[in-house]
Amino acid sequence: METRLLLPTKENIKKVGCALRDGMLAGIPTETVYGLAANALDGKAVAQIFEAKGRPMDNPLIVHISDFSQIERFSLVSEIPEKAYKLAERFWPGPLTVIMPKGTAIPDEVSAGLDTVAVRFPSHPVTKAVITAADRPLAAPSANTSGSPSPTTAGHVYHDMQGKIPYILDGGICEVGVESTVVTLCTPVPMLLRPGGITLEQLKDVLGEVEVNDAVLHQLKDGEKAESPGMKYKHYAPKADLILVKADNEKYIGFVNERADEKTGALCYDEDVPYLNVKTFAFGGKDDYTSQANRLFDALREIDETDVQTVYGRCPDTQGLAMAVYNRLIRSAGFEVIELA
Ligand code: TXA
Ligand code: MG
Repeated sequence: METRLLLPTKENIKKVGCALRDGMLAGIPTETVYGLAANALDGKAVAQIFEAKGRPMDNPLIVHISDFSQIERFSLVSEIPEKAYKLAERFWPGPLTVIMPKGTAIPDEVSAGLDTVAVRFPSHPVTKAVITAADRPLAAPSANTSGSPSPTTAGHVYHDMQGKIPYILDGGICEVGVESTVVTLCTPVPMLLRPGGITLEQLKDVLGEVEVNDAVLHQLKDGEKAESPGMKYKHYAPKADLILVKADNEKYIGFVNERADEKTGALCYDEDVPYLNVKTFAFGGKDDYTSQANRLFDALREIDETDVQTVYGRCPDTQGLAMAVYNRLIRSAGFEVIELA
């Protein structure tokens, strides 16, 4: 299959919208990462997503809407919890996914057999325009090959999906750069399942109490159930061996330089670059969490363009937007962290 990269002109948005309604796949930009979209109400169309990504069938998908009223119009949920209205009012459209009790229209392929469904109202103008053109809610995981870093440019999508899907709409670089925050309203107390563009602090501001699922910051123990199935898989990993180093600036730089050779790299902060004697992959300023989120996946993909074999990464903070960066990076590193006292 030929994969066509399209600019988001009115005509192209209409073309892609119609193709999606007719059961085809398309790579589409969102404000978080690029999505691999299909008509969420068409189980057969959705099944192709799993094939193109090589995604395990037990990992459910997010359903994207371009207007709050579509939740009822398309019977996406069986009930809209009171708290969902509050979250929507504050954070939608935007990088927040809300898990609610599943409605009758949701095919099993979307919910992976769970009795809940994930809904997101993205803010990117092109995403909204495509959903509106399709006149259908769109199921869309990140448009990467399963296990790889999520795509933040149309080029990343092309790299992973070339020959597998007919269209990719190029909407430029994603503004947030990490995937949406996932919160469930189907637990007794709302629970954060995946940190993202909306921070825990922001959620608490609207919901009061919010629990943080164990899998957000820690590796699940053998046999422990993943509340969010996606959190149990190895993810975002470069081909090189990535190890995180928890240390202050000086100790990190010393540790890496002691091990310097051609096969070693550093996934570091911008400020570290001049001091390191190895190939560097900078992913933002030390205290600039917005830039870290924005550049992390591109930096991880950059590692794969070189032949370094071992990469020592800075261990990010865990507050604010940095929690999302930490959550992705510990998975990229397969939870391997060296702590220097
Ligand atoms: O920003 C985003 O959320 C991007 C863009 C394209 O919108 N999408 C995205 O989708 O990141 P994906 O499939 O890569 O991640 C969805 C996450 C997975 O960890 C999945 O397990 C979880 O959401 N999820 C989906 N439905 C769920 C449900 N009903 N219950 C619990 N977790 C769910
Ligand atoms: Mg993903």
